[in-house]
Amino acid sequence: MLNLSSLVGFLVLGFIGWVTYKLFIWPFYISPLRKIPGPPPESIIFGNFKSVLTKEEPFLKWIQKYGNIVKVNGIFNRQTIVVADTKIIQDITLNHVYDYIKPPEMLNDFVLILGRGLVLAEGEEHKRQRKMMNPAFAHNNIKEMVPTFIRVASTLKELIEDKINKGESEINLTPYISKATLDVIGLVGFNYEFNSLTSSNELADAYASLFSNATNPVARFFISVLSSYIPIVRNIPIDINRRFKNACVVVDRESKKLMEEKNNEAKNGELKSKDLLSLLININKTLPIEEKLTDEELQYQIMTFLIAGHETTSSTTMWALYLLAKYPHEQDLLREELAKAFPDKSKFNPSFDEINSLEYLNCIVKETLRIHSPVPMISRVNVEDKIIGGYLIPKNTTIMIALSALHKSTEIWGPTANEFDPKRWLNPLYTKNVTNYNFLPFITGTRSCIGNKLALAEFKILLSTLIRNFVFQ
Ligand code: HEM
Repeated sequence: MLNLSSLVGFLVLGFIGWVTYKLFIWPFYISPLRKIPGPPPESIIFGNFKSVLTKEEPFLKWIQKYGNIVKVNGIFNRQTIVVADTKIIQDITLNHVYDYIKPPEMLNDFVLILGRGLVLAEGEEHKRQRKMMNPAFAHNNIKEMVPTFIRVASTLKELIEDKINKGESEINLTPYISKATLDVIGLVGFNYEFNSLTSSNELADAYASLFSNATNPVARFFISVLSSYIPIVRNIPIDINRRFKNACVVVDRESKKLMEEKNNEAKNGELKSKDLLSLLININKTLPIEEKLTDEELQYQIMTFLIAGHETTSSTTMWALYLLAKYPHEQDLLREELAKAFPDKSKFNPSFDEINSLEYLNCIVKETLRIHSPVPMISRVNVEDKIIGGYLIPKNTTIMIALSALHKSTEIWGPTANEFDPKRWLNPLYTKNVTNYNFLPFITGTRSCIGNKLALAEFKILLSTLIRNFVFQ
């Protein structure tokens, strides 16, 4: 019979054996992924994770060195595939889109702030939500949002003017741009006045604590990744976890309130407002019961729009301003184009078609999205074994599409791929190579960004207002 100490010894040995197998034997001698080229792990515990966090453009460098399909080791040598091959991307985003789901461990954190809305829904649930939501994002509805973009951009302009008049010449714009895009999504999303540019608001503060005001975004990211291995990490009572949880409580409560208010309003007949939530509620009323969004799903869409439509647009605007400050000649060219199209800057009131007709603005927008994609990488997990690029990829492997690496490929963009050069978008030498599968800031296919037209129009209005009125250095 086993006594207690031999039982403990047996368990300890078993554990050591299991850890040795998982960390050192499986990844390097057995896993089918071992055959895929990639950087050697730099640490037993963290694999290549340190390079991902600290090095500049590590994925681009690995793809340039090892090819368009690369194996990277994560924490505890968990292997991940990084792809930058257009045929593979077409398969993942279009041909077999529902064979690839978002990494389940992503759900743990994201579901708390996004809900199971369009971004996190999978399979049939996604198909149903997307089909009913597409009409709300139609061209004609986005056109009607332009006056709101102009109104918020003009409040932002006045706020900066006010600071300049008070003698400030160096202004950190990040929190203001973030507030402007939050105000926009509040209005066009739900007819909700955050007024975060001019006053304080609990929901706006909750988002600020998650993003623009986050005390330590790298630590938050690290906790998020680590908790996918050790779930208890997210419950450790430290400030960073407390702030995240408090923000989630506010987001949940306020988005529920918004949904209930609109639903009550809708009991009196069709909603007249053209915000996304009103459009969704009107569409929902016309659908057969099995296609309708539930109240909970409606609330999730509010949470989804707030996150998906807020920081992405603000970070793109910030990058554009940064690049234009770095390249003053490009900034002047854009200002000239704007001055020619709208000679009286106090009456800057373009329509959707007018703002989209500006050629140089368009080039700057695309070049910013190319050089600094706000979503540099998207992740999927294959639900069944797949042959990808000639390699067997066992089910449940995380596959990352390196959008930002593709955007800087010298094969597509030539030797100046790393440089900010808006004029390249007027040069057929480059544009002839561009396809939906190699320039994809909003990805492409069935799960592409539903808000892309909205985002582009909003970005153009914000950028034009700022460049027409101020010089950035
Ligand atoms: C410059 C701004 C934006 C960029 C670069 C961007 C980019 C993206 C990308 C790359 C995805 C795919 C993510 C994935 O599948 O893993 C996505 C999805 C999505 N985006 Fe955006 N986005 C932007 C703005 C917006 C705005 C303004 C909204 C809404 C108001 C929005 C709503 C969504 C939604 C709902 C999805 C999920 C679509 C689906 O799975 O069917 N985005 N976005």
